[in-house]
Amino acid sequence: MSTLATQPAAAAIAANPNARIAKKILVLGATSGIAEATCRIWAAEGAQLFLVARNAEKLAAVAADLKLRGASYVGTAVADLDETDKHAELLTHAVNSLTGMDIAYLAHGILGDQARGEQEFQHAAQVIYTNFLAPVSLLTWLANYCVQRHAGVIAVLSSVAGERGRKSIYIYGSSKAGLTTFLGGLRNRVDREGVTVITIKPGPVDTAMTAHMKIKKADVHKVAASIVKAIDKRMDTLYVPSIFQPIMFIVRHIPERIFKRLNL
Ligand SMILES: NC(=O)c1ccc[n+]([C@@H]2O[C@H](COP(=O)([O-])OP(=O)(O)OC[C@H]3O[C@@H](n4cnc5c(N)ncnc54)[C@H](OP(=O)(O)O)[C@@H]3O)[C@@H](O)[C@H]2O)c1
Repeated sequence: MSTLATQPAAAAIAANPNARIAKKILVLGATSGIAEATCRIWAAEGAQLFLVARNAEKLAAVAADLKLRGASYVGTAVADLDETDKHAELLTHAVNSLTGMDIAYLAHGILGDQARGEQEFQHAAQVIYTNFLAPVSLLTWLANYCVQRHAGVIAVLSSVAGERGRKSIYIYGSSKAGLTTFLGGLRNRVDREGVTVITIKPGPVDTAMTAHMKIKKADVHKVAASIVKAIDKRMDTLYVPSIFQPIMFIVRHIPERIFKRLNL
């Protein structure tokens, strides 16, 4: 774990009075295309950011860029988020560096290779571990932290792929279905404690994750703008682009005897 900021958030606040009202945001998987675009908006608002990613070089570049764009504080830690035994130490360090936390944003994930996962259990298990089990560990710590303070927003990137099992993407889809269900239950538990849990369900977005796919993809900056608005409004669920809300309603309701014959 390493921090980039030369001064802790408290010192940054003292140096810049505007930072007193700046949001304190923890970003897990900060080098993700969607996370970086979201952080650019927060940086322009003067937010205080703590960024976690596993690639030190990419993380340093993102952090430097966000400082230039106006973030009032940028702390960083290099971490492989699959290492669940290190989560408590990592998250404690992050919230101490921020001297609190208004928003936790979980953005890391892997698409995996569906064809490979159909043959190799270990590959399927890796996708489910990174996208579901590791987030469960992070979310458990974060939810308990927020409940103790009766405050906080936890925003998580799930996916429309979790809405129904499809042959082209059911390993990734099932990891996101598990995550979506976990988030629904967590929301049901912590909403009465003053804590907001937001499930973000993007359709295909133009990032490194989908670079190999020849399909229509949403612009990452538009997606990020919708995510920031949803967090400000403390929504429960965001489909982005919004057209995916009616699309997925239809997909969920296609009778199984028809659905199983479709090439989706
Ligand atoms: N793009 C889409 O169409 C789409 C649609 C629906 C949902 N989503 C979800 O949105 C989130 C962000 O995706 P994206 O499109 O921004 O993809 P991306 O640019 O490929 O970003 C994924 C990020 O996750 C990080 N990551 C993966 N495993 C990690 C681990 N064990 N520890 C730490 N970091 C790890 C990657 O780090 P490295 O750079 O080091 O590999 C990368 O920064 C993901 O959860 C994804 O499933 C994306």
